[in-house]
Amino acid sequence: MDELNVYAAIGEDGFSRLIAAFYKQVPDDDILGPMYPRHDLAGAEQRLRDFLIGRFGGPPRYIEERGHPRLRMRHMPFTLDEAARDRWVALMNRALDEVALPAEVTLLLREFFATTATFLRNA
Ligand code: HEM
Repeated sequence: MDELNVYAAIGEDGFSRLIAAFYKQVPDDDILGPMYPRHDLAGAEQRLRDFLIGRFGGPPRYIEERGHPRLRMRHMPFTLDEAARDRWVALMNRALDEVALPAEVTLLLREFFATTATFLRNA
Protein backbone atom coordinates (compact mmCIF):
# COMPACT_ATOMS: atom_id res chain seq x y z
CA MET A 1 0.00 0.00 0.00
CA ASP A 2 1.47 3.30 -1.14
CA GLU A 3 0.57 6.46 0.80
CA LEU A 4 -0.98 8.09 -2.26
CA ASN A 5 -3.31 5.11 -2.79
CA VAL A 6 -4.97 5.36 0.60
CA TYR A 7 -7.62 7.80 -0.60
CA ALA A 8 -8.50 5.53 -3.52
CA ALA A 9 -8.80 2.62 -1.08
CA ILE A 10 -11.01 4.19 1.61
CA GLY A 11 -12.43 7.39 0.05
CA GLU A 12 -14.09 10.36 1.74
CA ASP A 13 -16.18 7.95 3.76
CA GLY A 14 -13.21 6.14 5.28
CA PHE A 15 -11.52 9.37 6.37
CA SER A 16 -14.80 10.88 7.62
CA ARG A 17 -15.60 7.84 9.76
CA LEU A 18 -12.06 7.70 11.17
CA ILE A 19 -11.86 11.38 12.10
CA ALA A 20 -15.39 11.40 13.54
CA ALA A 21 -14.44 8.40 15.71
CA PHE A 22 -11.36 10.33 16.91
CA TYR A 23 -13.14 13.62 17.68
CA LYS A 24 -16.09 12.09 19.50
CA GLN A 25 -13.59 11.05 22.20
CA VAL A 26 -11.98 14.49 22.50
CA PRO A 27 -14.47 16.57 24.57
CA ASP A 28 -14.40 14.17 27.53
CA ASP A 29 -10.65 13.59 27.46
CA ASP A 30 -8.89 15.12 30.47
CA ILE A 31 -5.73 16.06 28.53
CA LEU A 32 -6.98 16.80 25.01
CA GLY A 33 -10.49 18.08 25.80
CA PRO A 34 -9.33 21.45 27.20
CA MET A 35 -6.91 22.01 24.29
CA TYR A 36 -9.43 21.90 21.45
CA PRO A 37 -11.84 24.76 20.62
CA ARG A 38 -15.08 23.75 22.33
CA HIS A 39 -17.12 26.08 20.09
CA ASP A 40 -15.49 24.83 16.88
CA LEU A 41 -14.90 21.11 17.24
CA ALA A 42 -16.67 20.57 13.91
CA GLY A 43 -14.17 22.96 12.31
CA ALA A 44 -11.23 21.15 13.92
CA GLU A 45 -12.65 17.86 12.67
CA GLN A 46 -12.90 19.25 9.16
CA ARG A 47 -9.32 20.63 9.21
CA LEU A 48 -7.78 17.31 10.25
CA ARG A 49 -9.93 15.36 7.80
CA ASP A 50 -9.11 17.64 4.86
CA PHE A 51 -5.41 17.60 5.73
CA LEU A 52 -5.30 13.80 5.78
CA ILE A 53 -7.32 13.47 2.56
CA GLY A 54 -4.84 15.74 0.76
CA ARG A 55 -1.84 14.04 2.35
CA PHE A 56 -2.98 10.58 1.25
CA GLY A 57 -3.82 11.15 -2.39
CA GLY A 58 -7.20 12.93 -2.33
CA PRO A 59 -8.27 16.48 -3.27
CA PRO A 60 -5.99 19.23 -1.86
CA ARG A 61 -8.76 21.06 0.01
CA TYR A 62 -6.69 21.69 3.13
CA ILE A 63 -3.90 23.49 1.25
CA GLU A 64 -6.43 25.48 -0.76
CA GLU A 65 -8.11 26.75 2.39
CA ARG A 66 -5.28 26.92 4.93
CA GLY A 67 -2.09 27.12 2.84
CA HIS A 68 1.06 25.15 3.62
CA PRO A 69 0.32 22.89 6.63
CA ARG A 70 3.37 23.92 8.73
CA LEU A 71 2.08 21.56 11.37
CA ARG A 72 4.87 22.09 13.91
CA MET A 73 4.28 25.83 13.84
CA ARG A 74 0.50 25.44 14.07
CA HIS A 75 0.87 23.24 17.16
CA MET A 76 3.18 25.62 19.02
CA PRO A 77 0.29 27.27 20.94
CA PHE A 78 -0.34 23.90 22.64
CA THR A 79 1.83 22.12 25.20
CA LEU A 80 2.56 18.96 23.30
CA ASP A 81 4.49 16.89 25.83
CA GLU A 82 4.89 13.13 26.04
CA ALA A 83 1.56 12.65 27.82
CA ALA A 84 -0.35 14.71 25.22
CA ARG A 85 1.41 12.93 22.36
CA ASP A 86 0.69 9.49 23.80
CA ARG A 87 -2.96 10.34 24.49
CA TRP A 88 -3.52 11.70 20.97
CA VAL A 89 -2.04 8.51 19.49
CA ALA A 90 -4.10 6.34 21.87
CA LEU A 91 -7.37 8.04 20.84
CA MET A 92 -6.47 7.71 17.17
CA ASN A 93 -5.56 4.04 17.58
CA ARG A 94 -8.92 3.46 19.26
CA ALA A 95 -10.63 5.23 16.35
CA LEU A 96 -8.71 3.00 13.90
CA ASP A 97 -9.85 -0.10 15.81
CA GLU A 98 -13.45 1.10 15.75
CA VAL A 99 -13.75 1.91 12.04
CA ALA A 100 -11.92 -1.24 10.85
CA LEU A 101 -10.42 -0.02 7.58
CA PRO A 102 -8.53 -2.53 5.39
CA ALA A 103 -5.59 -3.99 7.35
CA GLU A 104 -2.83 -2.51 5.20
CA VAL A 105 -4.38 0.96 5.43
CA THR A 106 -4.72 0.66 9.19
CA LEU A 107 -1.07 -0.34 9.53
CA LEU A 108 0.14 2.52 7.35
CA LEU A 109 -1.97 5.11 9.18
CA ARG A 110 -0.94 3.85 12.64
CA GLU A 111 2.71 4.31 11.71
CA PHE A 112 2.09 7.71 10.14
CA PHE A 113 0.19 9.03 13.18
CA ALA A 114 2.77 7.73 15.67
CA THR A 115 5.69 9.24 13.74
CA THR A 116 3.99 12.57 13.06
CA ALA A 117 2.83 12.93 16.66
CA THR A 118 6.40 12.36 17.90
CA PHE A 119 7.68 14.96 15.42
CA LEU A 120 5.12 17.49 16.73
CA ARG A 121 6.26 17.23 20.37
CA ASN A 122 7.34 20.65 21.61
CA ALA A 123 7.60 20.13 25.35
C1 HEM B 1 0.52 14.81 19.16
C2 HEM B 1 -0.60 15.20 19.72
C3 HEM B 1 -1.48 16.27 19.10
C4 HEM B 1 -2.18 17.20 19.77
C5 HEM B 1 -2.27 17.34 21.27
C6 HEM B 1 -2.83 18.04 18.79
C7 HEM B 1 -3.65 19.11 19.07
C8 HEM B 1 -4.21 19.96 18.17
C9 HEM B 1 -5.06 21.07 18.47
C10 HEM B 1 -5.50 21.47 19.88
C11 HEM B 1 -5.40 21.66 17.31
C12 HEM B 1 -6.29 22.88 17.11
C13 HEM B 1 -7.63 22.42 16.63
C14 HEM B 1 -8.13 23.24 15.48
O1 HEM B 1 -8.79 24.25 15.73
O2 HEM B 1 -7.85 22.88 14.30
C15 HEM B 1 -4.76 20.91 16.26
C16 HEM B 1 -4.85 21.22 14.91
C17 HEM B 1 -4.40 20.42 13.91
N1 HEM B 1 -3.72 19.23 14.06
FE1 HEM B 1 -3.10 18.44 15.79
N2 HEM B 1 -2.52 17.60 17.55
C18 HEM B 1 -1.70 16.51 17.69
C19 HEM B 1 -1.20 15.74 16.68
C20 HEM B 1 -1.50 15.89 15.36
C21 HEM B 1 -1.10 14.98 14.31
C22 HEM B 1 -0.30 13.70 14.53
C23 HEM B 1 -1.56 15.51 13.15
C24 HEM B 1 -1.43 14.98 11.75
C25 HEM B 1 -1.51 13.73 11.47
C26 HEM B 1 -2.25 16.73 13.45
C27 HEM B 1 -2.86 17.54 12.53
C28 HEM B 1 -3.50 18.71 12.82
C29 HEM B 1 -4.06 19.60 11.82
C30 HEM B 1 -4.04 19.41 10.32
C31 HEM B 1 -4.60 20.67 12.50
C32 HEM B 1 -5.27 21.92 11.90
C33 HEM B 1 -4.20 22.99 11.76
C34 HEM B 1 -4.76 24.28 11.19
O3 HEM B 1 -5.02 24.33 9.97
O4 HEM B 1 -4.93 25.23 11.94
N3 HEM B 1 -2.19 16.93 14.80
N4 HEM B 1 -4.05 19.89 16.79
